[in-house]
Parts: sequence; structure tokens; C-alpha cells
Amino acid sequence: MSEVLDRWFTRWYPLLMSISERGGQADVRAAQLGRAVGRTLEVGVGSGLSLPHYGSAVTELVLVEPDRNFRTTLRRTLETVGATRPTTVLDADVERLPFEDASFDTVTASFTFCSVRRPDVGLAELHRVLRPGGRFLFHEHVRGHGLRARVQDLLAPLQAALSGGCRPDRDFAGTVRASAFRIDELVPDRMPRAFPTVSPVVHGVASRTTEDAAGERS
Ligand SMILES: C[S@@+](CC[C@H](N)C(=O)[O-])C[C@H]1O[C@@H](n2cnc3c(N)ncnc32)[C@H](O)[C@@H]1O
Repeated sequence: MSEVLDRWFTRWYPLLMSISERGGQADVRAAQLGRAVGRTLEVGVGSGLSLPHYGSAVTELVLVEPDRNFRTTLRRTLETVGATRPTTVLDADVERLPFEDASFDTVTASFTFCSVRRPDVGLAELHRVLRPGGRFLFHEHVRGHGLRARVQDLLAPLQAALSGGCRPDRDFAGTVRASAFRIDELVPDRMPRAFPTVSPVVHGVASRTTEDAAGERS
């Protein structure tokens, strides 16, 4: 049953998101991902909504997507967008990335950590594979406040079952704060034309500082 629901999710998710993308979400992605440079890793790429927004400063793209159905759509999106740089699609889990330490200049995630089983472990992995001085560009929907938060808590199990494990009740900013990343920018926002449980979002930039690397060596 859950396999059927998961497959169904990979079909309706891009269609539903296209409403928000047209409503302004695409501009937020463009502003975020336009800052990616060098060898760049994106985790949980889904159908590839972020792909058109990487700029010419990105020299190589490594795209991690564990869902087989999303990978099929992603490959089709790549054909549409056109390969302007070496690009690899990989079946992997952000909690156990098959990359060397400090091997990326930029890492990115959008609406991914709502579905990751252990977000703190995923963040530690992103921190490990990012080079000192490199940046993590993120964009995630989060638990809101007041009545909305209570509705999000209530609907979390149902939403997770219908949406590939996506939970609307996560404090992503708190998880980044508790991680080894240094937060450089954190913007609370609203996803335009979004379902109310996924409307509150945070986007921002976090870094792996050079001090972190020195601390890890000593
Ligand atoms: C809601 S979709 C977001 C897709 C895309 N990032 C976007 O902005 O539209 C969540 C994505 O996270 C992926 N995901 C879930 N758990 C993951 C994990 N442990 N490691 C990597 N990706 C994961 C899912 O397969 C899915 O592609």
C-alpha cells in the first residue's frame, strides 16, 4: 500500500508544486540557488524543480534522489533543461552520503528535510562533505505557530503517509542551529499558494567554517 501511495505522491507532487512555483516560489528558488558555486550537491532533488535555477558559477552538479520514480522524472527534467555542466544523478541517502569529506563547494536542499528520517544525521553528513568555507543553501517548510502548529501536529501522520514521509511539524531552523553549521542567513517566509500545513517556510544560508575544520583536525 505504501509503495502505491509513494508512487502516487511522485506524480501529484510536481503538479501541486507547480501552482506555488508559478505563484512566486520559483523566484525564491532562483535567488537561493543563484548563489551556488563550484562543485554542487543537491539532496532530495525530487522531480528537479530547482534545476533551471543553478547559474553558470556551478561547474558540476551531483543530484541525490533515493526514490526510483522521482529519478525517472528527474532524468526527463534534465533532458528538458539541457546539460550545461557535468551532471550526475545518484540513488543515495543523505544520512549516508557516498562522498569524501570536504568534496563539495556548495550543498543544497529544498523541501527535503521534512521527509528525512533523522534530519540531524543528514545535516551532519552535509557538513562533512562540504569544504571548509563552503555554503549550505536551504529552503524547507516548517512547523508554524498557534492554531496552525496544532493542526500541523494533528495532521502530521496522515500527511506523512500520503506524501512520501513528509512531516509538516518539524523545526528545521532548530535542527540547523543544533548542528555544526554556522547560520549566516535565516528568513522566515510563506510558500505562495501552498496547502496550509506546508505554508510556513524558512530559507537561508549556513556555512562550514574554517574553524570547524581546524577543530576536527586537532
Ligand atoms: C517533498 S520532496 C521535495 C523535492 C524537491 N527537493 C523540491 O524542492 O521539489 C522530498 C524529497 O526528499 C527526498 N528524500 C527523502 N528522504 C531522503 C533521504 N534520506 N535522503 C535523500 N533524499 C531524501 C524524497 O525522495 C523527495 O525527493
